[in-house]
Amino acid sequence: MEKREEAKELVEEEEQVVNPWEVSAKDGGKIDYDKLIDKFGCQRLDESLIQRVQRLTNRPAHVFLRRRVFFAHRDFNDILDAYEKGQKFYLYTGRGPSSEALHLGHLIPFMFTKYLQDAFKVPLVIQLTDDEKCMWKNLSVEESQRLARENAKDIIACGFDVSKTFIFSDFDYVGGAFYKNMVKVAKCVTYNKVVGIFGFTGEDHIGKVSFPPVQAVPSFPSSFPHLFSGNDNIRCLIPCAIDQDPYFRMTRDVAPRIGYHKPALIESSFFPALQGENGKMSASDPNSAIYVTDSAKEIKNKINRYAFSGGQDSIELHRKYGADLEVDIPFKYLGFFLDDDAELERIREEYGSGRMLTGEVKKRLTEVLTDLVERHRRARALVTDEMVDAFMAVRPLPNMFN
Ligand code: TYM
Repeated sequence: MEKREEAKELVEEEEQVVNPWEVSAKDGGKIDYDKLIDKFGCQRLDESLIQRVQRLTNRPAHVFLRRRVFFAHRDFNDILDAYEKGQKFYLYTGRGPSSEALHLGHLIPFMFTKYLQDAFKVPLVIQLTDDEKCMWKNLSVEESQRLARENAKDIIACGFDVSKTFIFSDFDYVGGAFYKNMVKVAKCVTYNKVVGIFGFTGEDHIGKVSFPPVQAVPSFPSSFPHLFSGNDNIRCLIPCAIDQDPYFRMTRDVAPRIGYHKPALIESSFFPALQGENGKMSASDPNSAIYVTDSAKEIKNKINRYAFSGGQDSIELHRKYGADLEVDIPFKYLGFFLDDDAELERIREEYGSGRMLTGEVKKRLTEVLTDLVERHRRARALVTDEMVDAFMAVRPLPNMFN
């Protein structure tokens, strides 16, 4: 019996894939986030933690916390314990510049990080892994660097405070103290270990195998002497989607062995592909994604054409049975980006019972996303090359805790 259960477990694990390069559920199904929490060994973000964030920051919880978009963590409570005692922390997040523009899924960690920066008044480092995308996407070094700067503009447009934020590209910044930490990490991780965590094979080039320390070491304050010199004990909190967890499992495993704190994480679920919740919105599949550069017309067309509907096949059946909200993408998307709790509840009731039709929900979603993308576009138009240089300059940030 036990054997059979083990075998079943193995089959199930094989069918749901979540890693930094691939997110796919079992055939036609949804990502099973409970199973991911168990498999990865992270903790569920519960109501008491959200209440605590509200208390400590003196502001209402972000909609992504209220709706449990951020649903898992590692040692977030330790960060809050330390914060309560007056010890600050720093935030670390990143982007692998694989496309000209960000899609709406990418905005999620950045919007949330901006809220954390404002609420806790803490510094932030943002890593642009142009080296990673050069190696995985077969882009030239120059093209990856260009995309990194373009993406930096979208990131800055999310509203980060230049007096508290350092954005760096690996091609420009790796070296010195950062590189020393990379070597310390690399010495602690065997080839077998990275194969186990990331699934590399003998056919993968060694650039891939040697990359994980690059993403690991921004978790350590000593990688940024211009920011944290003399403050080497400060803790790090990483907001990201759960696809990045493997990098930080490795990092957390190594940290105590080289005398550093383990970074804490706060992790989100995936903003799903337009086609359904069995995959994430991904820059590698343009039809799965709405980009921050899409026009109002493109957004409307993509939603109408591709957004998977849980509505019934005919109006009669729909009025009788209502929409299946478990699979309905327009309703899921509203759960991420429609701020108004009362309106979302009303749509849940009306659409779920069949009084509201798919077309009406898609229309409301189109308004919400067009508004979001329009606001982003206006903010991005104001981001100049000089501003990118200012965010990316290697400099002290004297007021980063104010
Ligand atoms: P990248 O560029 O694939 O993704 C950037 C950030 O967006 C998250 N993300 C999503 N979140 C919600 N829904 C989605 N559909 C979705 N797709 C992507 C990712 O989890 C990530 O937080 N290797 C990284 C770059 C990186 C990084 C980091 C990310 C370097 N250091 C530290 C997070 C934290 C990458 O290629 O991300």
